Amino acid sequence: MLPDLRGRRLVDLGCGFGWFARWARTEGASHVLGLDLSENMLARAKAGAVDPAVEYARADLETLELPAGEFDLAYSSLTFHYIEDFGRLIRMVFRALTPGAHLVFTIEHPIYMASTRPGWLVREDGQKTWAVDNYAVEGARTTDWLARGVVKQHRTLGTTLNTLIASGFAVREVQEWHPTQEQVAERPALAEEMERPMMVLISAQR
Ligand SMILES: C[S@@+](CC[C@H](N)C(=O)[O-])C[C@H]1O[C@@H](n2cnc3c(N)ncnc32)[C@H](O)[C@@H]1O
Repeated sequence: MLPDLRGRRLVDLGCGFGWFARWARTEGASHVLGLDLSENMLARAKAGAVDPAVEYARADLETLELPAGEFDLAYSSLTFHYIEDFGRLIRMVFRALTPGAHLVFTIEHPIYMASTRPGWLVREDGQKTWAVDNYAVEGARTTDWLARGVVKQHRTLGTTLNTLIASGFAVREVQEWHPTQEQVAERPALAEEMERPMMVLISAQR
């Protein structure tokens, strides 16, 4: 879903350990700005080999302002579902991109976020199944994932896509990833991924 990165100036919103920034440089990106709220994540990102074309900075995406027309690609992996004011962030990202530039991001799929986890329901035939809880009710959802009481912001898929469209983006691709039947046959544990999409990958263009 990513465009050719050669010679592009990138921003990674919620860069974590900087995996994408380093990979983007190997793909020819000319400059990468990695932003994250967590000092611990940034410390790990900065601990690797120094690359003058990769810059890390602490920023809160709830309030971040980037210079207009500064970037040829905005990227974000599994971070936007922590952001409460998604509309403000997307309008700001739109302004920060050059015309024709892409925003490519992944989020936890709202069906997964709104489901009853980690519990399973048992169908009449004895099969375990997944249940969605109040999908239409948007807002904070608290879960125990890595740490207790992690707060994520649930939005319907429609709200996410309409926020992009209302901000001026053209939605180019939406992928609700699931394995193929061949992959499930090879690794039966993947069958769970057919019950519900865990992540959604979205490409939009200014
Ligand atoms: C699940 S991690 C993903 C990290 C990285 N993008 C990756 O794919 O490996 C989510 C990241 O979002 C960051 N984050 C959460 N809320 C944020 C906020 N308001 N502003 C900036 N970063 C935030 C966290 O610190 C964390 O590094």
